[in-house]
Amino acid sequence: MKPELGVCYYPEHWPEARWAEDARLMIETGLRWVRIGEFAWSRMEPVPGELQLDWLDRSIETLGAAGLKVVLGTPTATPPRWMLDRHPDMLAADADDRPRKFGSRRHYCFSHQGYREECARIVDILGARYGASPHVTAWQVDNEYGCHDTTVSYSDAAATAFRLWLADRYGSVEKLNEAWGNVFWSMEYQSFDQIDPPNLTVTEANPAHVLAFRRFSSDQVVAFNRVQTDVLGRHTEAPLIHNYMGRVLDFDHFEVGADLDIASWDSYPIGFLSDRLEAEDAHKQAFLQQGDPDMQAFHHDLYRAVGRGRWWVMEQQPGPVNWAPHNPAPLPGMVRLWSLEAVAHGAEVVSYFRWRQAPFGQEQMHAGLLQPDGRFAPGLAEAQEVAAVLEQLPDLATARAQVAILFDYPSDWAWATQPQGAGFDYFRLVFSAYRALRRAGLSVDILPSSCRDFEGYSLILAPGLAELDNSLAQALKDTSGLTVIGPRSGAITSEFSIPDAGRPGIEEFDCHVDLMESLPPAVARPVVGGGTVRHWYERVSGSAEVPFRFEDGAPMALAKPGLWYLAGFPDDALWDRIVAEAAEQMGLTVTRLPEGLRRRSLGDHSFVFNYANSTVEWEGHSYAPCEVAIWHKGQRLNLS
Ligand code: GAL
Repeated sequence: MKPELGVCYYPEHWPEARWAEDARLMIETGLRWVRIGEFAWSRMEPVPGELQLDWLDRSIETLGAAGLKVVLGTPTATPPRWMLDRHPDMLAADADDRPRKFGSRRHYCFSHQGYREECARIVDILGARYGASPHVTAWQVDNEYGCHDTTVSYSDAAATAFRLWLADRYGSVEKLNEAWGNVFWSMEYQSFDQIDPPNLTVTEANPAHVLAFRRFSSDQVVAFNRVQTDVLGRHTEAPLIHNYMGRVLDFDHFEVGADLDIASWDSYPIGFLSDRLEAEDAHKQAFLQQGDPDMQAFHHDLYRAVGRGRWWVMEQQPGPVNWAPHNPAPLPGMVRLWSLEAVAHGAEVVSYFRWRQAPFGQEQMHAGLLQPDGRFAPGLAEAQEVAAVLEQLPDLATARAQVAILFDYPSDWAWATQPQGAGFDYFRLVFSAYRALRRAGLSVDILPSSCRDFEGYSLILAPGLAELDNSLAQALKDTSGLTVIGPRSGAITSEFSIPDAGRPGIEEFDCHVDLMESLPPAVARPVVGGGTVRHWYERVSGSAEVPFRFEDGAPMALAKPGLWYLAGFPDDALWDRIVAEAAEQMGLTVTRLPEGLRRRSLGDHSFVFNYANSTVEWEGHSYAPCEVAIWHKGQRLNLS
C-alpha cells in the first residue's frame, strides 16, 4: 500500500470558474484525494424536494478530470433551515431541556425518526446519482458524530426512543427495577412510559439509569449511521468512511465502525494540546506549536483498531485553527511531521483541512493550504514535501505490535457517571499508560474490550476497565502475555452495581479490594523506589507477590504469573517503572526516549519523530527540531 495525500474542499464556497485551477494546483501539490459535499445540503436542495445537483455534477467532473479521487460527504451534519419547518421537534435538547437552535451545525437529535427519514432520502438521491461515478471513490457519512457535545440529547424524540430501548433491553419494568436497584429511594416504576431521561433530577440520578441512557445514546448514533450505510450499500461498492474526533468518547466507535469500511479521524494537534489535555503548564509551553507527542499517535492507533486495520486522517491541521482558547501556528516542519507520523502508524490517506481558508463564516480564522486570497499558505509547501517523501517511501509492512492496550468506551461512560473523585477520568488513565509505553520506545496496538485474540502480545495493559466480563477475564488468563489490570477493574456490573460474587477475574487470583478512596489533586501516596499514586487508591490484600509497595507497606501492585493488579492511578514516574519492570519480565527491549522524541516501528522500518523545538541527541544520533528520521535495518534513509 502506498499512502496518499488529500484535501477537504468546498466548491460551493468559490466561483465555478476557479474550480479547475484549484484542481490543477491540488494535483501539482501532490494531493490525490479531495473530500467535498459534507456541509452543502442547502445548495443541493435549496427548497424541499427541489434538487439542484448540476453544480455538484460539474464539480465532481472537474476534480475527477484533473486526476483527483473524490470522497463525497453526505450532508446530514448540516440540515438546511427549512428542515426545521418540516420537523420543528428535530433539535437535540441539552441537559436543561433547552433545544439547541439553528445557526451553526449538528442541530439534530440522533433519535428523531423524521430526520432519519430525511437523511435516508437525501443519501438515496446522492447514492443513485453518484454511486457508480468513476470519480467518487469513497464516501464520508455525516461529519464528526458527537462534535459540539451532540451525542447525548434529552429531547422528546430521545425520551420516546429511550423508553422503547428500555422495553427491548429489559422486557418488563419489574426486571428494570430489579436491575437498577430502584428500591433505593423508592424509585420503582410501574411502566416504561413513566421513565424519563436522567436529567433535571433533584440530586444525582441513579447511576444505573444514567449508564443505561449513555448506552442508549451511543446506540442511537450506531442506528443513525446505519440508516445511511444501508442506503449507500445499495448504490455503491466504494468504501464508506466516517471522520471521528480526538478524545470524544460519547459513543462506541467500535460499534459505529463495524458498519463502515474505513475509519478516519480529524487531527488538530495544537488545538488538542490547549483544550483537550490535562498537562503541566511547562509541558504545554514546550509543545505549544507542535502538539503533545503522544496524542496523535494514540488516536492513530485507536482508529486503526476501529477501522479493523484500514484508517485515514481525514482532516489534518495545516496551520493555526480557530476554535481553541489560543491558536498558535505550527512550528515550521510540524505539518510534515504530523503527516508522516500518521503514515508510520499505517494511515492510507492523510487529507488536509482545508484547501483554501474561507473569508466568511465561523472558520474565517482557520488556516488552509491556501490563503483566503488564493496565495500559498505555509502548510502547502510542507504538504508538497510530504508528497515527495511518500513517492520515495518503500512499501511499509504492517505487523502486530508486541504491546497492546485495551480501550473500552462504556468504561468512560461508567466512570463519568460516578467518578467518585474528580480526577478519575478513564481517558486520562488509559492515555497515561499509553504515554509510558511510548516513552519506553514501544509501538502499541489498541484493542477493543471485545477482543479475545491476544496471540503475539507480550504485554497487555487494561487499566480501569469498569466491567471485566468472565469471557474477557478468561481470554486474558489464557494468553501467554502478561496482563496488567487495575485500578477499579471489574468494579461494577453492566447494570452499575457492585458484583455479587466479587470482581470477575480478580478474586480468583486471590486479590481482594478492601477499601477504595479518591484523592484531591495535591495529594499523592508515595511508592517505595519512586513514583506515586494520585486520584485513586485501593487497599488490596491477597496471597500474590507484591512487585510495588506504598511507603506505608501496603501493596501497590499484586502479581501472579501472567497477571498484575494495580491498586491505584500511577503518576508518570510510576507508570515508567511499571512498564519497565513488566517489559523486562516479558523479555521486551525498552529504552528511555529523551523528551519529545518518539519512535514507531513498522515491520523493518522505524520512524523517529522529534516533537521538541531543539536538537535532541539519542543513541549517538542527532535529531533536528521537528525532524522525521526513517530507519531501515540500521540505515538512516535519506528521503527529502
Ligand atoms: C473539524 C470539522 C471541520 C472543521 C474543522 C476545524 O472538527 O470536521 O468541519 O470545523 O474541525 O478545525
